Amino acid sequence: MNREAPLGVFDSGLGGLTVVRALRAALPHEDIVYLGDTARVPYGTKGPATVLRYALNCTRALVDRGVKAIVIACNTVSAVAPDRLRADFDKPVLSVIEPGARAAIRSAGDGRIGVLGTTATIASGAYVRAVSANSTRCEVLGRAAPLLVPLAEEGWLEGEVPSLVVREYLQAFVGKGIGAVVLGCTHYPLFRPLIEEQVRSLLGPHVNVVDSALATADETRDFLVDRELTSTRTRPGELEFLVTDRPRSFEAVAQRFLGDAAPAATVIDL
Ligand code: DGL
Repeated sequence: MNREAPLGVFDSGLGGLTVVRALRAALPHEDIVYLGDTARVPYGTKGPATVLRYALNCTRALVDRGVKAIVIACNTVSAVAPDRLRADFDKPVLSVIEPGARAAIRSAGDGRIGVLGTTATIASGAYVRAVSANSTRCEVLGRAAPLLVPLAEEGWLEGEVPSLVVREYLQAFVGKGIGAVVLGCTHYPLFRPLIEEQVRSLLGPHVNVVDSALATADETRDFLVDRELTSTRTRPGELEFLVTDRPRSFEAVAQRFLGDAAPAATVIDL
């Protein structure tokens, strides 16, 4: 395995940029190739067989570009595809649900864990399984929050509309003894300030908001360090963007989100 090869990161669209931002902070010298399947977003409203097929296409495209490991920066894909991707490709495959579940267990105290995710992620029961594999005491309550995905893809991240949408979704957790709310979709950290404000006002000031992107970046760093797969370079890592459609709107949100680090996006066909 070539430790100087880039990391391959993919998502259905731009939500995975939240993972890229966290990875760049945790692993500043790694090159990253990011693929956003913007032609087929959203994945979260589709069935598991379709999501798996798309995930296989995305992974193939990244493996063909010589990446050393795959980071699935999408909860919906992480809910249905990691085992199959590990079986089909001779590469390490990291995903977001296990690290997010472990971070939630650490944050929830004696409370329950509220998970906001796509319809597919919540229906899969993947967070319930990941939490119960790591804790016998924590209970999970899931709430599908699909409307936040198109708002994020539009770059509509602030103001009355996303605020009302978040408020409505969080009602499911009111009075349920929640200790932590997991942003169980990589698009949701784009709304983090707004979600934190609403969590504090509806669920209480002690309730933590857990971002699976940060936990995933930390676990990816530990994984690469343990296997001596980190780059030995000392220059800042480079970032390459691949998308399957609408490169300009992807670049506009990426620019806002990553600042100067956002390069132009190249359109590819899967
Ligand atoms: N980013 C995806 C996730 O984490 C959701 C977006 C979509 O529905 O495609 O689940």
